[in-house]
Amino acid sequence: MQILGIETSCDETAAGVLQKKEHALIIKSNVLASSLSLHAKTGGIIPEQAAREQIKFILPVITEALAQAKVTIKELDAFAVTYGPGLIGSLLVGVETVKTLSFVLQKPIIPVNHMLGHLYANWIDNPSITFPALALVVSGGHTDLLLLKDHGDYQLLGGTRDDAAGEAFDKIGRLLGYEYPAGPAIEKRAKQGDPKRFRFPRPLVGSDDYDFSFSGLKTAVLREVQKQGDLDEQTIADICRGAQDAIIDVITKKALKAARQTNANSLILSGGVAANQTLGDAFAQKIAQENLPIKFYVPPRNLCTDNGAMIAAAAFYNYHPVSWQDLTANPELYFD
Ligand code: KG4
Ligand code: ZN
Repeated sequence: MQILGIETSCDETAAGVLQKKEHALIIKSNVLASSLSLHAKTGGIIPEQAAREQIKFILPVITEALAQAKVTIKELDAFAVTYGPGLIGSLLVGVETVKTLSFVLQKPIIPVNHMLGHLYANWIDNPSITFPALALVVSGGHTDLLLLKDHGDYQLLGGTRDDAAGEAFDKIGRLLGYEYPAGPAIEKRAKQGDPKRFRFPRPLVGSDDYDFSFSGLKTAVLREVQKQGDLDEQTIADICRGAQDAIIDVITKKALKAARQTNANSLILSGGVAANQTLGDAFAQKIAQENLPIKFYVPPRNLCTDNGAMIAAAAFYNYHPVSWQDLTANPELYFD
């Protein structure tokens, strides 16, 4: 069985063909076009511009995904598409394209929640992840903790009250003069930073709930940047280190507390911020130090950020086809 997964919720136009062979999922292609360079110049995404770029890229990206997978569109079994959350103009490009393909080719559509798509990137290489699984989605728009009891059976434990973790990386990066998205640049610079020079606040780290808050951290970094005046290279690296340490400390402490309290068998990390190797290493180290009986998963870097294969993977495990008449983009979609 082969599914084409399409992802257009933000600034990336992505399509990937995933094949299921017995229990294994095989990526036959995973193609991406991005309007990121346009947004880097403006320091963030302009929705209208992102949508226009999606329209330009969608058919070439699908064509390339089919060519690389060496399948014809007729040989596909279904189309999976992100229907929310995201920017409405961007979402509509993927959704309306898939509706048309389904109408013409008479093939089923599987609508996918973008956030669940991120989680399912973990199943591509690990089809036997055991439940209950504590899942953390850390992206540009979300910092959410979920308890998965089975495929399609999940409970939202907590989320961000203000800025998401990726948003914090991006906003702090902007203060330091980095282009959007700033996460990778901060991670790189933090490696040269002194961990003791700046200790930034860890919001909600000890609270009883599973919520996150990162806007106070951004404000603390802003105050430090203003206090320092002209920033030399070492100070930038030290601020990157201090800010990244604060984000990682809060995320790992809260997620591991939730893992202990829920007796989870697996801990799965996902979303663009999961591409941060320092974060993955911190989780692995803390789990080993505390001798926790939990298996930790994080997708390979290219499957952490938005892509089509993860959308197809979510569709395989949550196969609920709808007809084209019943598909609507939902920019405000959360976890239902
Ligand atoms: O999941 P994603 O591709 O898009 C959304 O659904 O939001 O995540 C993008 C976010 C951006 O905020 C970006 O700065 C962050 O992921 N990111 C990182 C790293 N790579 C991407 N954050 C920290 N360290 C990284 N290496
Ligand atoms: Zn995403």
